[in-house]
Amino acid sequence: MKIAIVVGTRPEIIKLAPIIKEYEKRGLPFTLIHSNQHYSANMDKVFFKNLHLPYPKFNLNVGPGTHAQQTAKILERIEKILLEEKIDLVYVQGDTNTVLAGGLAATKLRIKVAHVEAGLRSYDLEMPEEINRIAVDHFADYLFAVTEVQKRILEKEGIPKQKIHVVGNTIVDSLNNCVDMINSGKIEVIRPEVNPKEYFLITAHRPTNVDYETPLKELISSLDEIAREFNKICLWPIHPRSKSNIEKFNLTLPSSIKIMEPVGYFDFVNLMQNTAALLTDSGGIQEEACILKIPCLTLRENTERPESVEAGSNIICGRDADRMKKALNHFFNRDCNWENPFGDGKTASRIVEIVHGSCVNDF
Ligand code: UD1
Ligand code: UDP
Repeated sequence: MKIAIVVGTRPEIIKLAPIIKEYEKRGLPFTLIHSNQHYSANMDKVFFKNLHLPYPKFNLNVGPGTHAQQTAKILERIEKILLEEKIDLVYVQGDTNTVLAGGLAATKLRIKVAHVEAGLRSYDLEMPEEINRIAVDHFADYLFAVTEVQKRILEKEGIPKQKIHVVGNTIVDSLNNCVDMINSGKIEVIRPEVNPKEYFLITAHRPTNVDYETPLKELISSLDEIAREFNKICLWPIHPRSKSNIEKFNLTLPSSIKIMEPVGYFDFVNLMQNTAALLTDSGGIQEEACILKIPCLTLRENTERPESVEAGSNIICGRDADRMKKALNHFFNRDCNWENPFGDGKTASRIVEIVHGSCVNDF
Protein backbone atom coordinates (compact mmCIF):
# COMPACT_ATOMS: atom_id res chain seq x y z
CA MET A 1 0.00 0.00 0.00
CA LYS A 2 1.48 3.37 -1.05
CA ILE A 3 0.95 5.98 1.63
CA ALA A 4 1.00 9.78 1.45
CA ILE A 5 1.07 11.98 4.54
CA VAL A 6 -0.11 15.53 3.87
CA VAL A 7 0.83 18.45 6.12
CA GLY A 8 0.27 22.17 5.67
CA THR A 9 0.16 24.18 8.88
CA ARG A 10 1.90 24.30 12.26
CA PRO A 11 -0.58 22.07 14.13
CA GLU A 12 -0.66 19.47 11.34
CA ILE A 13 3.12 19.13 11.42
CA ILE A 14 3.05 18.71 15.22
CA LYS A 15 0.16 16.25 15.23
CA LEU A 16 1.23 14.13 12.25
CA ALA A 17 4.86 13.92 13.45
CA PRO A 18 4.14 10.84 15.61
CA ILE A 19 2.60 9.04 12.61
CA ILE A 20 5.59 9.95 10.42
CA LYS A 21 7.92 8.64 13.15
CA GLU A 22 5.86 5.46 13.43
CA TYR A 23 6.26 4.77 9.70
CA GLU A 24 10.00 5.39 10.00
CA LYS A 25 10.26 3.13 13.03
CA ARG A 26 8.46 0.29 11.25
CA GLY A 27 10.47 0.78 8.05
CA LEU A 28 7.24 1.36 6.10
CA PRO A 29 7.63 3.67 3.10
CA PHE A 30 5.57 6.87 2.78
CA THR A 31 5.54 10.04 0.73
CA LEU A 32 5.51 13.30 2.67
CA ILE A 33 3.66 16.14 0.93
CA HIS A 34 3.71 19.69 2.31
CA SER A 35 1.17 22.20 0.98
CA ASN A 36 3.23 25.04 2.53
CA GLN A 37 0.01 26.74 3.63
CA HIS A 38 2.27 27.82 6.49
CA TYR A 39 5.59 28.95 5.10
CA SER A 40 7.36 31.38 7.48
CA ALA A 41 10.34 29.63 9.09
CA ASN A 42 8.86 30.01 12.61
CA MET A 43 5.50 28.53 11.53
CA ASP A 44 6.98 25.73 9.44
CA LYS A 45 10.66 24.72 9.25
CA VAL A 46 11.27 25.04 12.99
CA PHE A 47 8.84 22.16 13.61
CA PHE A 48 10.55 19.88 11.08
CA LYS A 49 13.78 20.61 12.92
CA ASN A 50 12.39 20.22 16.47
CA LEU A 51 10.56 17.01 15.68
CA HIS A 52 13.34 15.53 13.50
CA LEU A 53 11.07 15.11 10.52
CA PRO A 54 12.26 14.23 7.03
CA TYR A 55 12.22 16.87 4.32
CA PRO A 56 8.94 16.63 2.35
CA LYS A 57 9.34 14.95 -1.02
CA PHE A 58 6.85 17.39 -2.54
CA ASN A 59 6.14 21.00 -1.68
CA LEU A 60 3.02 22.55 -3.20
CA ASN A 61 4.18 26.11 -2.42
CA VAL A 62 0.66 27.32 -1.70
CA GLY A 63 1.31 30.09 0.82
CA PRO A 64 -1.23 32.76 1.73
CA GLY A 65 -4.52 33.39 -0.06
CA THR A 66 -8.27 33.29 0.24
CA HIS A 67 -9.94 30.02 1.16
CA ALA A 68 -10.81 29.38 -2.48
CA GLN A 69 -7.29 30.21 -3.66
CA GLN A 70 -5.57 27.97 -1.12
CA THR A 71 -8.03 25.12 -1.63
CA ALA A 72 -7.92 25.32 -5.42
CA LYS A 73 -4.11 25.48 -5.60
CA ILE A 74 -3.75 22.46 -3.33
CA LEU A 75 -6.40 20.47 -5.23
CA GLU A 76 -4.74 21.09 -8.56
CA ARG A 77 -1.15 20.61 -7.43
CA ILE A 78 -1.67 17.53 -5.29
CA GLU A 79 -3.75 15.61 -7.84
CA LYS A 80 -0.89 14.93 -10.22
CA ILE A 81 1.43 13.92 -7.39
CA LEU A 82 -1.09 11.41 -6.06
CA LEU A 83 -1.42 9.97 -9.57
CA GLU A 84 2.30 9.94 -10.41
CA GLU A 85 3.20 8.38 -7.05
CA LYS A 86 0.33 5.85 -7.41
CA ILE A 87 -0.82 6.61 -3.86
CA ASP A 88 -3.35 4.23 -2.27
CA LEU A 89 -4.05 6.09 0.98
CA VAL A 90 -3.67 9.69 2.13
CA TYR A 91 -3.42 10.84 5.75
CA VAL A 92 -4.78 14.27 6.64
CA GLN A 93 -5.10 15.71 10.14
CA GLY A 94 -7.52 18.26 11.57
CA ASP A 95 -9.55 20.90 9.81
CA THR A 96 -7.45 23.26 7.70
CA ASN A 97 -7.79 24.11 4.02
CA THR A 98 -4.93 21.68 3.40
CA VAL A 99 -7.00 18.90 4.98
CA LEU A 100 -10.07 19.66 2.90
CA ALA A 101 -8.19 19.98 -0.39
CA GLY A 102 -5.78 17.09 0.20
CA GLY A 103 -8.61 14.80 1.20
CA LEU A 104 -10.92 15.91 -1.59
CA ALA A 105 -8.31 15.44 -4.32
CA ALA A 106 -7.64 11.94 -3.02
CA THR A 107 -11.24 10.82 -2.63
CA LYS A 108 -12.15 12.03 -6.15
CA LEU A 109 -9.37 9.77 -7.44
CA ARG A 110 -10.86 6.98 -5.30
CA ILE A 111 -7.76 6.99 -3.13
CA LYS A 112 -8.52 6.15 0.49
CA VAL A 113 -8.50 8.98 3.02
CA ALA A 114 -7.52 8.57 6.69
CA HIS A 115 -8.74 11.53 8.74
CA VAL A 116 -6.83 11.93 11.98
CA GLU A 117 -8.83 13.84 14.63
CA ALA A 118 -12.21 13.11 13.06
CA GLY A 119 -15.61 14.03 14.48
CA LEU A 120 -14.76 17.30 16.22
CA ARG A 121 -17.61 19.80 16.04
CA SER A 122 -17.97 23.36 17.32
CA TYR A 123 -21.39 23.68 15.62
CA ASP A 124 -20.21 27.13 14.54
CA LEU A 125 -20.22 27.56 10.79
CA GLU A 126 -18.58 30.98 11.21
CA MET A 127 -15.40 28.96 11.66
CA PRO A 128 -13.95 27.89 8.31
CA GLU A 129 -12.55 24.85 10.11
CA GLU A 130 -16.04 23.54 10.91
CA ILE A 131 -16.89 23.40 7.21
CA ASN A 132 -13.63 21.63 6.42
CA ARG A 133 -13.97 18.97 9.10
CA ILE A 134 -17.60 18.16 8.33
CA ALA A 135 -16.78 17.72 4.65
CA VAL A 136 -13.71 15.54 5.23
CA ASP A 137 -15.49 13.33 7.74
CA HIS A 138 -18.21 12.60 5.22
CA PHE A 139 -15.89 11.29 2.52
CA ALA A 140 -13.02 9.80 4.58
CA ASP A 141 -12.58 6.03 4.74
CA TYR A 142 -10.85 5.89 8.12
CA LEU A 143 -12.13 8.25 10.80
CA PHE A 144 -9.77 8.41 13.73
CA ALA A 145 -11.86 9.84 16.56
CA VAL A 146 -10.16 11.06 19.72
CA THR A 147 -12.74 9.91 22.28
CA GLU A 148 -16.22 8.36 22.39
CA VAL A 149 -17.60 11.91 22.07
CA GLN A 150 -16.56 12.14 18.40
CA LYS A 151 -17.65 8.56 17.73
CA ARG A 152 -21.16 9.42 18.88
CA ILE A 153 -21.20 12.61 16.79
CA LEU A 154 -20.10 10.77 13.66
CA GLU A 155 -22.59 7.96 14.15
CA LYS A 156 -25.36 10.50 14.61
CA GLU A 157 -24.36 12.07 11.29
CA GLY A 158 -24.88 8.70 9.64
CA ILE A 159 -21.27 7.68 9.13
CA PRO A 160 -20.95 3.88 9.11
CA LYS A 161 -19.68 2.49 12.44
CA GLN A 162 -16.99 0.36 10.82
CA LYS A 163 -15.18 3.45 9.51
CA ILE A 164 -14.83 5.01 12.99
CA HIS A 165 -11.97 4.15 15.35
CA VAL A 166 -11.50 5.72 18.77
CA VAL A 167 -7.75 6.05 19.15
CA GLY A 168 -6.92 9.12 21.27
CA ASN A 169 -5.09 12.18 19.97
CA THR A 170 -1.56 12.15 18.55
CA ILE A 171 -0.93 15.42 20.41
CA VAL A 172 -0.32 13.32 23.55
CA ASP A 173 2.38 11.33 21.69
CA SER A 174 4.01 14.54 20.47
CA LEU A 175 3.76 16.39 23.74
CA ASN A 176 5.07 13.48 25.86
CA ASN A 177 8.04 13.17 23.56
CA CYS A 178 8.73 16.89 23.75
CA VAL A 179 8.43 17.01 27.55
CA ASP A 180 10.86 14.06 27.82
CA MET A 181 13.34 15.89 25.60
CA ILE A 182 13.05 19.10 27.65
CA ASN A 183 13.39 17.17 30.93
CA SER A 184 16.46 15.33 29.62
CA GLY A 185 18.26 18.68 29.67
CA LYS A 186 19.57 18.06 26.15
CA ILE A 187 17.43 20.83 24.69
CA GLU A 188 18.14 24.54 25.02
CA VAL A 189 14.90 26.47 25.52
CA ILE A 190 14.44 30.22 25.53
CA ARG A 191 14.03 31.80 28.95
CA PRO A 192 11.52 34.64 28.83
CA GLU A 193 12.38 37.84 30.66
CA VAL A 194 9.47 37.22 33.01
CA ASN A 195 9.69 34.65 35.83
CA PRO A 196 7.74 31.36 35.86
CA LYS A 197 4.09 31.76 36.94
CA GLU A 198 4.35 35.55 36.67
CA TYR A 199 2.84 35.55 33.21
CA PHE A 200 -0.24 34.44 31.31
CA LEU A 201 0.58 32.80 28.00
CA ILE A 202 -1.64 34.06 25.19
CA THR A 203 -2.36 32.82 21.67
CA ALA A 204 -5.12 34.14 19.40
CA HIS A 205 -5.51 33.78 15.67
CA ARG A 206 -9.19 33.01 14.98
CA PRO A 207 -10.60 35.37 12.34
CA THR A 208 -13.54 36.26 14.65
CA ASN A 209 -11.07 37.51 17.27
CA VAL A 210 -8.38 39.15 15.18
CA ASP A 211 -9.65 40.03 11.71
CA TYR A 212 -11.89 42.94 12.76
CA GLU A 213 -10.94 46.01 14.73
CA THR A 214 -13.68 45.97 17.40
CA PRO A 215 -13.19 42.39 18.67
CA LEU A 216 -9.42 42.70 18.48
CA LYS A 217 -9.53 45.90 20.59
CA GLU A 218 -11.90 44.20 23.03
CA LEU A 219 -9.54 41.23 23.37
CA ILE A 220 -6.51 43.46 23.99
CA SER A 221 -8.40 45.54 26.54
CA SER A 222 -9.56 42.41 28.45
CA LEU A 223 -6.04 40.97 28.48
CA ASP A 224 -4.73 44.25 29.86
CA GLU A 225 -7.44 44.25 32.53
CA ILE A 226 -6.69 40.74 33.80
CA ALA A 227 -2.93 41.33 33.68
CA ARG A 228 -3.36 44.33 35.98
CA GLU A 229 -5.89 42.59 38.22
CA PHE A 230 -3.62 39.54 38.79
CA ASN A 231 -0.33 41.42 38.61
CA LYS A 232 0.95 39.37 35.66
CA ILE A 233 2.37 40.01 32.21
CA CYS A 234 0.55 38.68 29.14
CA LEU A 235 3.17 36.98 26.99
CA TRP A 236 1.89 36.56 23.44
CA PRO A 237 3.91 34.64 20.83
CA ILE A 238 1.89 36.19 18.10
CA HIS A 239 0.49 34.46 15.02
CA PRO A 240 1.33 36.38 11.81
CA ARG A 241 -2.39 36.86 11.08
CA SER A 242 -2.87 38.69 14.38
CA LYS A 243 0.34 40.67 14.11
CA SER A 244 -0.53 41.98 10.66
CA ASN A 245 -4.02 42.97 11.86
CA ILE A 246 -2.66 44.86 14.88
CA GLU A 247 -0.48 46.76 12.41
CA LYS A 248 -3.32 47.23 9.92
CA PHE A 249 -5.63 48.74 12.57
CA ASN A 250 -2.74 50.76 13.98
CA LEU A 251 -3.37 49.47 17.52
CA THR A 252 -0.97 50.18 20.37
CA LEU A 253 -0.48 47.43 22.92
CA PRO A 254 -0.43 48.30 26.63
CA SER A 255 2.80 47.59 28.54
CA SER A 256 1.12 44.60 30.25
CA ILE A 257 1.09 42.73 26.91
CA LYS A 258 4.44 41.61 25.52
CA ILE A 259 4.36 40.19 22.05
CA MET A 260 7.06 37.97 20.64
CA GLU A 261 7.53 36.06 17.40
CA PRO A 262 5.94 32.58 17.28
CA VAL A 263 8.32 30.07 18.82
CA GLY A 264 9.29 26.46 18.07
CA TYR A 265 7.67 23.51 19.81
CA PHE A 266 10.21 23.01 22.62
CA ASP A 267 10.13 26.70 23.46
CA PHE A 268 6.36 26.84 23.41
CA VAL A 269 5.94 23.73 25.57
CA ASN A 270 8.42 25.22 28.04
CA LEU A 271 6.41 28.46 28.07
CA MET A 272 3.22 26.47 28.69
CA GLN A 273 4.80 24.50 31.54
CA ASN A 274 5.77 27.71 33.32
CA THR A 275 2.72 29.88 32.81
CA ALA A 276 0.13 30.71 35.46
CA ALA A 277 -2.61 30.08 32.87
CA LEU A 278 -3.13 29.79 29.14
CA LEU A 279 -5.55 32.11 27.38
CA THR A 280 -6.13 30.91 23.86
CA ASP A 281 -8.45 30.47 20.89
CA SER A 282 -6.29 27.65 19.53
CA GLY A 283 -7.70 24.16 19.27
CA GLY A 284 -4.55 22.19 20.03
CA ILE A 285 -3.55 24.33 22.99
CA GLN A 286 -6.83 23.54 24.80
CA GLU A 287 -5.74 19.89 24.64
CA GLU A 288 -2.14 20.56 25.62
CA ALA A 289 -3.18 22.66 28.63
CA CYS A 290 -5.35 19.79 29.84
CA ILE A 291 -2.56 17.24 29.37
CA LEU A 292 0.03 19.46 31.09
CA LYS A 293 -2.41 20.34 33.90
CA ILE A 294 -2.28 24.06 33.22
CA PRO A 295 -5.48 26.15 33.57
CA CYS A 296 -6.92 27.12 30.20
CA LEU A 297 -9.30 29.95 29.33
CA THR A 298 -10.75 29.64 25.85
CA LEU A 299 -11.16 33.00 24.12
CA ARG A 300 -14.18 31.82 22.15
CA GLU A 301 -17.86 31.14 22.76
CA ASN A 302 -17.64 27.45 21.91
CA THR A 303 -15.21 24.58 21.69
CA GLU A 304 -14.92 21.43 19.65
CA ARG A 305 -12.92 20.00 22.58
CA PRO A 306 -15.71 19.58 25.19
CA GLU A 307 -13.69 16.88 26.96
CA SER A 308 -11.35 19.57 28.29
CA VAL A 309 -14.26 21.53 29.75
CA GLU A 310 -15.73 18.37 31.28
CA ALA A 311 -12.35 17.39 32.71
CA GLY A 312 -12.26 20.79 34.44
CA SER A 313 -9.15 22.16 32.71
CA ASN A 314 -10.84 24.60 30.35
CA ILE A 315 -13.33 27.42 30.85
CA ILE A 316 -15.01 29.18 27.93
CA CYS A 317 -14.64 32.94 28.40
CA GLY A 318 -15.00 34.61 25.01
CA ARG A 319 -13.35 38.03 25.10
CA ASP A 320 -15.04 39.06 28.34
CA ALA A 321 -12.74 40.33 31.11
CA ASP A 322 -15.20 39.53 33.92
CA ARG A 323 -15.56 35.92 32.78
CA MET A 324 -11.76 35.68 32.54
CA LYS A 325 -11.33 37.00 36.10
CA LYS A 326 -13.92 34.58 37.46
CA ALA A 327 -12.28 31.66 35.65
CA LEU A 328 -8.81 32.59 36.90
CA ASN A 329 -10.04 32.91 40.48
CA HIS A 330 -11.66 29.51 40.14
CA PHE A 331 -8.41 27.91 38.94
CA PHE A 332 -6.22 29.67 41.49
CA ASN A 333 -8.38 28.23 44.27
CA ARG A 334 -8.20 24.58 43.26
CA ASP A 335 -5.69 21.86 42.40
CA CYS A 336 -5.09 21.13 38.75
CA ASN A 337 -5.50 17.42 39.22
CA TRP A 338 -7.92 16.63 36.41
CA GLU A 339 -7.68 13.51 34.24
CA ASN A 340 -6.37 13.73 30.67
CA PRO A 341 -9.09 12.41 28.33
CA PHE A 342 -7.02 12.76 25.14
CA GLY A 343 -5.13 9.48 25.15
CA ASP A 344 -2.18 7.51 26.38
CA GLY A 345 0.57 8.60 23.98
CA LYS A 346 0.23 5.49 21.79
CA THR A 347 -2.24 6.92 19.30
CA ALA A 348 0.09 6.97 16.29
CA SER A 349 1.00 3.31 16.70
CA ARG A 350 -2.69 2.42 17.03
CA ILE A 351 -3.55 4.32 13.84
CA VAL A 352 -0.79 2.69 11.79
CA GLU A 353 -1.84 -0.75 13.07
CA ILE A 354 -5.43 -0.13 12.02
CA VAL A 355 -4.50 1.19 8.56
CA HIS A 356 -2.17 -1.74 7.93
CA GLY A 357 -4.73 -4.24 9.05
CA SER A 358 -3.62 -5.88 12.24
CA CYS A 359 -5.46 -3.98 14.95
CA VAL A 360 -9.00 -4.74 16.02
CA ASN A 361 -9.07 -3.06 19.41
CA ASP A 362 -10.17 0.49 19.83
CA PHE A 363 -8.71 2.71 22.54
C1 UD1 B 1 -4.76 28.17 9.56
C2 UD1 B 1 -5.97 27.25 9.63
C3 UD1 B 1 -6.48 27.15 11.06
C4 UD1 B 1 -5.36 26.75 12.01
C5 UD1 B 1 -4.16 27.66 11.82
C6 UD1 B 1 -3.00 27.15 12.65
C7 UD1 B 1 -7.50 27.24 7.67
C8 UD1 B 1 -8.78 27.72 7.15
N1 UD1 B 1 -7.10 27.79 8.84
O1 UD1 B 1 -5.18 29.46 9.95
O2 UD1 B 1 -7.48 26.17 11.14
O3 UD1 B 1 -5.82 26.84 13.33
O4 UD1 B 1 -3.77 27.66 10.43
O5 UD1 B 1 -2.12 28.18 12.95
O6 UD1 B 1 -6.87 26.40 7.07
N2 UD1 B 1 1.00 33.77 7.59
C9 UD1 B 1 2.34 34.06 7.52
N3 UD1 B 1 3.21 33.02 7.60
C10 UD1 B 1 2.82 31.74 7.72
C11 UD1 B 1 1.44 31.47 7.78
C12 UD1 B 1 0.55 32.49 7.72
O7 UD1 B 1 2.75 35.21 7.41
O8 UD1 B 1 3.67 30.84 7.79
C13 UD1 B 1 0.03 34.90 7.51
C14 UD1 B 1 -0.36 35.25 6.07
O9 UD1 B 1 -0.60 36.63 6.02
C15 UD1 B 1 -1.65 34.53 5.89
C16 UD1 B 1 -2.28 34.58 7.30
O10 UD1 B 1 -1.17 34.50 8.19
O11 UD1 B 1 -2.48 35.13 4.94
C17 UD1 B 1 -3.24 33.47 7.59
O12 UD1 B 1 -2.67 32.21 7.27
P1 UD1 B 1 -3.62 30.99 6.84
O13 UD1 B 1 -2.82 29.76 6.68
O14 UD1 B 1 -4.47 31.39 5.70
O15 UD1 B 1 -4.61 30.87 8.05
P2 UD1 B 1 -4.31 30.73 9.61
O16 UD1 B 1 -4.94 31.86 10.31
O17 UD1 B 1 -2.86 30.46 9.83
N1 UDP C 1 2.64 26.39 19.10
C1 UDP C 1 4.01 26.54 18.97
N2 UDP C 1 4.54 27.81 18.99
C2 UDP C 1 3.78 28.92 19.14
C3 UDP C 1 2.36 28.75 19.28
C4 UDP C 1 1.83 27.48 19.24
O1 UDP C 1 4.74 25.54 18.85
O2 UDP C 1 4.32 30.02 19.15
C5 UDP C 1 2.05 25.04 19.02
C6 UDP C 1 1.17 24.62 20.17
O3 UDP C 1 1.92 23.99 21.19
C7 UDP C 1 0.18 23.67 19.52
C8 UDP C 1 0.07 24.18 18.10
O4 UDP C 1 1.19 25.02 17.89
O5 UDP C 1 0.69 22.33 19.46
C9 UDP C 1 -1.22 24.93 17.94
O6 UDP C 1 -1.24 25.60 16.73
P1 UDP C 1 -2.29 26.70 16.38
O7 UDP C 1 -2.78 27.35 17.61
O8 UDP C 1 -1.64 27.55 15.37
O9 UDP C 1 -3.42 25.88 15.64
P2 UDP C 1 -4.77 25.17 16.11
O10 UDP C 1 -4.43 24.14 17.10
O11 UDP C 1 -5.67 26.25 16.63
O12 UDP C 1 -5.32 24.63 14.84
